[in-house]
Amino acid sequence: MIEVDGIRGHFINGDLEFLQAIVKHTHPRLIAEIGSFCGLSAVAMASAYSGSVVLCHDTWQGSEGWTKEWTEGIDREFSANVDRLGFRGRIHPVCGDSKKTAALYPDGFFDLVFIDGDHCEAGCYGDLVAWYPKCAGAFIGHDRVPGGGVDKATARFVREHHGLRISEIPNTHYMWKIDR
Ligand SMILES: C[S@@+](CC[C@H](N)C(=O)[O-])C[C@H]1O[C@@H](n2cnc3c(N)ncnc32)[C@H](O)[C@@H]1O
Repeated sequence: MIEVDGIRGHFINGDLEFLQAIVKHTHPRLIAEIGSFCGLSAVAMASAYSGSVVLCHDTWQGSEGWTKEWTEGIDREFSANVDRLGFRGRIHPVCGDSKKTAALYPDGFFDLVFIDGDHCEAGCYGDLVAWYPKCAGAFIGHDRVPGGGVDKATARFVREHHGLRISEIPNTHYMWKIDR
């Protein structure tokens, strides 16, 4: 866990550097983040390009196995961080199960989608199925630990969708990118 500008999050520095680099490079106008916790990755992306808006999708209930410290009041902590750092107009929470909130948007709506929500195989696979069609640009994610849920879900998704390939981002905590 790290803390940047008073926001706690499950990242290493290389993860945030990659998020900022891809946003600086591609200038996405609309970003969907799946799994926002206290807002660290959302703030990292929003601060990398002032023309971007980040829609943050989370239940703010935490993930399976998380203790009280990781779940209690995280919705308020997210909002307080966004306000304190001046991103209220550009970072917006969308509360609910991300496999369902994806249906709020037409296909190709987002310029960048970052998947960092439910890390179990079924949950992550559900996010890939729900969110990949919504993305017209970079489709990236976090925590593809070998043999873990995200690894299994991404491998299955790529296997089932002809022409897709997955790459690992060096110097990050198993960040990944799916390309057509
Ligand atoms: C690893 S954290 C996200 C970290 C975040 N990107 C950051 O900046 O610190 C995973 C988040 O996914 C959320 N989550 C888990 N299952 C979910 C689901 N089915 N729908 C929406 N959010 C979910 C949890 O509440 C948690 O905040």
